[in-house]
Amino acid sequence: MTTKPVVRYALPADLQPDRLPQHVAVIMDGNGRWAKRRGLPRIMGHRRGVDTLKTLLRCCRDWGIRALTAYAFSTENWGRPIEEVDFLMALFERVLRQELMEMMAEDVRIRFVGNLAALPLSLQEEIELAVTETKDNQGINFTVATNYGGRQEIVQACRSLATQVQRGELKPEEITEDLFSQHLYTADSHDPDLLIRTSGEMRISNFLLWQLAYAEIYVTDTLWPDFDTSEFHHALLAYQQRDRRFGKLNS
Ligand code: IPE
Ligand code: IPE
Ligand code: MG
Repeated sequence: MTTKPVVRYALPADLQPDRLPQHVAVIMDGNGRWAKRRGLPRIMGHRRGVDTLKTLLRCCRDWGIRALTAYAFSTENWGRPIEEVDFLMALFERVLRQELMEMMAEDVRIRFVGNLAALPLSLQEEIELAVTETKDNQGINFTVATNYGGRQEIVQACRSLATQVQRGELKPEEITEDLFSQHLYTADSHDPDLLIRTSGEMRISNFLLWQLAYAEIYVTDTLWPDFDTSEFHHALLAYQQRDRRFGKLNS
């Protein structure tokens, strides 16, 4: 029996380890265009996109980045042709099942954000299993945004707070930014420091609207299936050039 050699990514010498983003978020865009350029059906791009995500996750972990959040399916993506939606749901389920052992071996803690109750039941079960199995892993926090919409998330947080007020458990003036954050899917996680969007679109497409308030944004024309570790290296170099002022003045 042969065992697969374990690939470990060494941090490139021109990156400063103490100035890495703690949390990277990615809008994995351009799978369809990648496939179209090759005369392939769009789903081939999604398939290839999974490999890109696996490599990026491993790379983040090896380079000491604490958290990665990936946008896999938006609340608006239901509007695509049913064949593509069905393919994506089946792909998510299959990948989760196939990768669980690997995530355990790599010490990955996986979580999901989004309206999961609307996903196919078999996918919900696979999600629950993976989340429970990996909950004590500490190598990296990996969050997958599935049926996620920033506006939907904010509305559900408002409803939850309004219900508490209605029951007399909370006063309106007790609602603070911190408390509001606790009612989002991302409660207890750091806001992203760096947002990467592939395939050139200069928009955030309803991703983490609240949490991205002060993220550095990096957009590359590279299509998601082609976004490799050297592209990620470039993104981090760009990030380390940024002056994060958070509304204040330079020190
Ligand atoms: C991103 O790639 C993946 C999902 C939205 C699920 P796209 O499918 O949006 O690819 P393009 O943007 O059409 O090329
Ligand atoms: C954003 O990409 C959603 C995901 C990557 C899952 P889209 O392709 O859906 O976004 P738009 O339509 O270009 O804004
Ligand atoms: Mg797209």
